[in-house]
Amino acid sequence: MEYQLQRENPIAVFDSGVGGISVLRELIRIMPEEDFIYFGDSKNAPYGTKEKEKVRELTIGCARKLFDQGAKGLVVACNTATSAAVRKLREMYPYIPIVGIEPALKPAALCMEHPKVLVMATPMTIHEEKFHVLMERYKEKAQILPLPCPGLMDFIERGDLDGEDLHKYLEDLLYSYRENQVDAAVLGCTHYPFARKQIQQVLGENVKIFDGGEGTAREMKRRLQEKDLLCGRQKRGQVVFENSLTDDSKIELCKKLLNFWNMILEFVFEVDIIWTHFLHILDNVNGNHSFTLFPFYLINIFITKLLEEKPIRERRGFSSFCDKMLPVK
Ligand code: DGL
Repeated sequence: MEYQLQRENPIAVFDSGVGGISVLRELIRIMPEEDFIYFGDSKNAPYGTKEKEKVRELTIGCARKLFDQGAKGLVVACNTATSAAVRKLREMYPYIPIVGIEPALKPAALCMEHPKVLVMATPMTIHEEKFHVLMERYKEKAQILPLPCPGLMDFIERGDLDGEDLHKYLEDLLYSYRENQVDAAVLGCTHYPFARKQIQQVLGENVKIFDGGEGTAREMKRRLQEKDLLCGRQKRGQVVFENSLTDDSKIELCKKLLNFWNMILEFVFEVDIIWTHFLHILDNVNGNHSFTLFPFYLINIFITKLLEEKPIRERRGFSSFCDKMLPVK
């Protein structure tokens, strides 16, 4: 059944559990005005050690539920579910933007001349054809070392982000690659960015770490733009969390995982509001286009660079101070 896609409807984000929050935070960073529904299938997690058919069936079931709630697009924020089901989903819903995540092998393989790249992912992602095709594409550019990591997602799913057990698990798993034995590592499961610091500690400080969250978020924005489906609101959107487990602990964990990042963003947004008012007052005192404001203009560029995004005030719908700095005829 085809339904009308509405600009003001939410974007759905799906994962086998809480890992997709690492993609959701990137989505919020580049589309803060959009609404999101995040669905984690923690009841059936892990997906990465299941049969492909089972993962496909579960993914399609979850996607259907999200489309029934009116989602205008779907981000499959799970590498495992993407390799098992994204092609089928696109056949079933050709008119809905559906973006899947895959291991960020391209930037890792191209980060230097013929690097040694470790790819950490679930057993299913590593064994699937999709990954083999990807590996084939970059095998001349890099030495690629795929590493299945069964059990790593369970630490994140339990909310164990910095415990001794996790550290011990990583020490054992990464024993042959520790202390700068590889040049780069790809986090090919959306749960793993939550253990990035610990992975970096074991692999060594010089190892460059990549994940596919940002690329996936940008691709979804591009697809929505193409179909004229961006909401175009001037205020921050909302996130609704849902989980196949009915107790609230998973929802609480999702909020905790998102909040760490969100608190930083909110802080910058709030500073930006105060900042904007301050600049307007200075602007009025000094008269328009005064170049005494130039240092403040530079600080604004610095904040913008920090967020690696278009100017924050533009996103919040403020009239642009920077525009005022331009000489007017
Ligand atoms: N977060 C999922 C991924 O990106 C998989 C975790 C699992 O269910 O095994 O692959």
